[in-house]
Amino acid sequence: MKLRRSRLYVPGNTPKMIPPAGLYGADVISLDLEDAVGPDFKVDARMLVSEALKIVDFGPGVEVTVRINPLSTEWGRWDIRQIVCNKLDGIYIPKVESPEDVILVDELVTDLEEKKGLPIGRIKLFATMETAKGILNSYEIARCSKRLEGITIGGEDLTADLGGERSSDGIAIHTARQLIVLAARAAGIQAIDTVYADFRDMEGLRKETELVRKMGYDGKACIHPNQIEVIHEVFNPTPDEIVHAVKVTNAIEEARKRGSGVIALGKKMVDRPIALRAEKVLARAHAAELPIPTIEEIKAIEETTSSGTGKGGGDD
Ligand code: COA
Ligand code: MG
Repeated sequence: MKLRRSRLYVPGNTPKMIPPAGLYGADVISLDLEDAVGPDFKVDARMLVSEALKIVDFGPGVEVTVRINPLSTEWGRWDIRQIVCNKLDGIYIPKVESPEDVILVDELVTDLEEKKGLPIGRIKLFATMETAKGILNSYEIARCSKRLEGITIGGEDLTADLGGERSSDGIAIHTARQLIVLAARAAGIQAIDTVYADFRDMEGLRKETELVRKMGYDGKACIHPNQIEVIHEVFNPTPDEIVHAVKVTNAIEEARKRGSGVIALGKKMVDRPIALRAEKVLARAHAAELPIPTIEEIKAIEETTSSGTGKGGGDD
């Protein structure tokens, strides 16, 4: 599984921000040619980003992507022509409203990969829905291209399109957020949430990230390096969640050996959906290189603790 907990936007026309962008620990960086760059600076930003892709070493592990301008603008096609190279991992397409918006980018990228002698299909695509129309078409969009590995929601533009208000409870975009995660899951790809614009408000960021994690999101975009740590903390499984997941996986394995699909763990029943959730927690922990104790280690610690306190049994 590819971890995409955090996705840092880096303005494509800010030379000092680009070279260190990979060092802050974000899973994904998105060099931005769209809304971070004013119309008069689009061409210069494109040059800067295409050069940076060739010469900057963003470090190991980070997924290097570019947010292009929509193909409906005068810049979109030229963005793609100039950025496609062997250092580019992915392209974020903004303001996607229909599958055609993605298919066109897919075809252009394939054409360029062929012409430039690059492996076909290595560059991934990500579609951002940020209009009512885009949100309502999100399932068709999510399954329209093999290159598509995730869909995202653009909270600010969507709120403007809806005529709602961006508030801390996120009510204006709540249904849209749910539709995006439903579409992503139905298509078997990832769902990545929008930015939290108040980059000095860490508590607000944590609350919003917790909300979208509970909704099923895989990650969240950010605009400032300081936001990355909070986002990772929220998306990483906690040590307790990891221990519980190991116990669940072990319990369901024991049940399977006995020919059953259900078993009790502490005071709760464990069945297939619970086991599946546990598997996801362990996959996340593994991808994030978090420590995963074995069931024997957990039992040994629990025995020591319970003999020490005189209390018996866990409370799962
Ligand atoms: N990417 C890379 N580096 C960034 C960064 C980003 N998005 N945001 C800040 N930094 C760097 C700064 O260059 C500075 O580096 P330095 O210490 O080496 O000088 C450091 O992080 C601290 O930055 P700070 O002074 O706190 O913020 P700022 O006033 O320089 O920048 C913003 C604030 C909002 C202008 C800036 O974070 C930004 O441009 N974010 C991206 C906006 C964007 O892309 N929007 C479009 C998508 S929604
Ligand atoms: Mg937008």
